[in-house]
Amino acid sequence: MMPSSHIVGVGSYFPERSVSNNELAKTVDTTDEWILKRTGISHRYFAGEGENTASMASESAKAAMEHGNVRAKDIDLIILATTTPDNIFPATAAAVQHRLGVPPCAFFDVQAVCSGFIYALAMADNMLKLGQAKRALVIGSEIYSKILDWEDRSTCVLFGDGAGAIVLESVPESEAGVLSTHLYGDGAYYNSLYVDGGVTNKGGSGYVCMDGAEVFRVAVNKMSEAMQVALSHNNYASSDLDWFVPHQANIRIMSKIAESLNLPPERVVSTISQHANISAATIPVALDYAVKSGYFKSGDLIGLSALGGGFAWGSALVRWS
Ligand code: ACO
Repeated sequence: MMPSSHIVGVGSYFPERSVSNNELAKTVDTTDEWILKRTGISHRYFAGEGENTASMASESAKAAMEHGNVRAKDIDLIILATTTPDNIFPATAAAVQHRLGVPPCAFFDVQAVCSGFIYALAMADNMLKLGQAKRALVIGSEIYSKILDWEDRSTCVLFGDGAGAIVLESVPESEAGVLSTHLYGDGAYYNSLYVDGGVTNKGGSGYVCMDGAEVFRVAVNKMSEAMQVALSHNNYASSDLDWFVPHQANIRIMSKIAESLNLPPERVVSTISQHANISAATIPVALDYAVKSGYFKSGDLIGLSALGGGFAWGSALVRWS
């Protein structure tokens, strides 16, 4: 029988510096009221001196390993979802492995922007199913403060820094936690959300550029659609979902998806107000928050869904153990 995977540990990490909308409004032409009403964001964290994507990823991974009672020597795969790698190469996951003292193993970064965690989860789940690893760290870590254009108030107020991680372990199929993953992408939207840096573009790391209205519209449609596919693939309806953990970009996007899935607001895990959009890190951070808040019970059915630059999007259905 083909093995499966389930989540045994969750963790998150935020830098010390939390910045309120009011504090941001001292240097950006904006207001607390505008940001809160349009996005649901009230605070975001910004990395301090000496912090980077690898250091935040490692802290969140340590917390996840501690929560799951898993030692560094037991990890044999590291997949790091990030849009903000510390160097062009090697993979930031290499630095994470070294920092954590994980013995030599397969590691790589995944670049699927805000859907990066779903992509990384799908890859880890598939590798565990194929017997290529037994215990994986799946991490989302981002340092968006390095790629924000402080002259563009329509983007710089939306993002923050932070990291979240899970430990995914191989189990017999009868104990499957990850029931399915579905991944999608459509490069026709390449120019709707991008960072204009990179080796063949203008050099340097560039800034976030975005067609906010289009991102909003497509995110609502595709994240809802992907969640529906996950449910019907497993013969469930949205009424069977105990919890919905969407990518946290904008509370209005999350509410509209919940509405289209007919889900009451109290079944949607929402953490965006405290950390803003941290791209690939939002879903593991929200999972960690939900676990630490005692939301999830054994056997709960949890839906995950995300969309990001590309556009790339996807969903996963998880049975909590
Ligand atoms: N503070 C004050 N005013 C602002 C700000 C700001 N920070 N930003 C823009 N405005 C102004 C605009 O200049 C505009 O003024 P005008 O009417 O005088 O021209 C006005 O506010 C309205 O701007 P809109 O763009 O129409 O505002 P909207 O209600 O559409 O909200 C927003 C904009 C929040 C960006 C919305 O489009 C959105 O959330 N889109 C999704 C973007 C997103 O989540 N991206 C994250 C990455 S992708 C992902 O994670 C799914």
